Amino acid sequence: MSNVVRIMTILITGNRGYIGPILVEMLLAKGYEVVGYDAGYYAGNELYTTKNEIKQITKDVREIKEEDLNGVDVVIHLAGLSTDPLGELDERLTEEINFRATIKLARLARSAGVKRFVYASSQSMYGVADTDYELDEDAPKNPVTAYARTKWEAEQELGKLDSDDFTVTSFRPSTVFGPSPNLRCDIVFNSLVASAYTTGNIEIKSDGTPWRPVVHIKDVSRAFIAGIEAPRELVGGQSFNVGIPNGNYTVRELAEAAQRAVPGSKLKFTGEHGPDSRTYRVSFKKILSVLKDYYKPEWDLDKGGEELIAFFKRVNFTEAQFRGRPAIRLEQIKYLLRGKKLDENLLWRT
Ligand SMILES: NC(=O)c1ccc[n+]([C@@H]2O[C@H](COP(=O)([O-])OP(=O)(O)OC[C@H]3O[C@@H](n4cnc5c(N)ncnc54)[C@H](O)[C@@H]3O)[C@@H](O)[C@H]2O)c1
Repeated sequence: MSNVVRIMTILITGNRGYIGPILVEMLLAKGYEVVGYDAGYYAGNELYTTKNEIKQITKDVREIKEEDLNGVDVVIHLAGLSTDPLGELDERLTEEINFRATIKLARLARSAGVKRFVYASSQSMYGVADTDYELDEDAPKNPVTAYARTKWEAEQELGKLDSDDFTVTSFRPSTVFGPSPNLRCDIVFNSLVASAYTTGNIEIKSDGTPWRPVVHIKDVSRAFIAGIEAPRELVGGQSFNVGIPNGNYTVRELAEAAQRAVPGSKLKFTGEHGPDSRTYRVSFKKILSVLKDYYKPEWDLDKGGEELIAFFKRVNFTEAQFRGRPAIRLEQIKYLLRGKKLDENLLWRT
């Protein structure tokens, strides 16, 4: 009998975005072999360089071939148009990238002998919800945007592919916060803290009453890793909300945490969009109980706020970076379209 242990190979799509580099770092630290697969829409302006030396495939997920998945044991699928405003740019493309390409990737993975498929879904599928109670995974879905709809459609279709030989798990992260070489500022807590740090004001584009659960970038990465490491009986065909105990906050509470991170900064409720319609309170009971041996979140808002400020100081983060591309994903895509780098299907022109 051979005593050689084969290292598990994990292919991560979307590894060059916001969450990807942090997840890759954590997987490498655990000794996994990692392959990256990304079109690279936001790559090239990283705030710092990582030591993540991995095989990188630069390719659109819509163009994936079975041979790209040779020797891969697990796929973690992060790639996609990752925000509501970006998803509204062209609903047909959102459907193509977030839904159709996801299903194509999963089918190819299954026929290539991949054993597990971990999907980065979203809580946006809950849309406008009754905030009198916390929504569990089976709560009614009310997707109000193409982004939210395609995440929900993909989850349902993926669920049908789950089998003893191909374990499929969907994670629905709260809105993520925390440093990354490819920081996003179009997500709520990063935006509030960046606004406080770079301008001294915290701009809140609502009346502050909507509920927004949030989770740290390392904790969300831990959840994806739990999807690889927990036994099939716990995760096969399952969906999990990803968050922390008491992880539901109003936008006002998030803004006040940003204010604590930057003493002296001022809250400004611009209210320019009126009360934001998206609001939901989410239950994290399932992940915190079923996956308790695999998912152990470590971060809260105040620790996260302090970490973001230390990070902004280290990289000399500026207001232009906070308000512009690539931190605002829609701005980067519009820039690439204007400069004719991407064609109207969001494929690179050669
Ligand atoms: N960040 C959050 O708060 C959050 C919350 C819930 C769910 N998610 C989901 O997690 C995933 C990762 O999020 P993120 O914040 O890192 O997003 P991101 O936008 O920073 O990264 C997405 C990556 O996918 C790549 N990509 C996009 N379309 C592609 C295509 N057609 N082919 C190949 N690569 C493509 C981009 O180049 C980018 O590197 C996304 O699916 C997102 O919807 C994120």
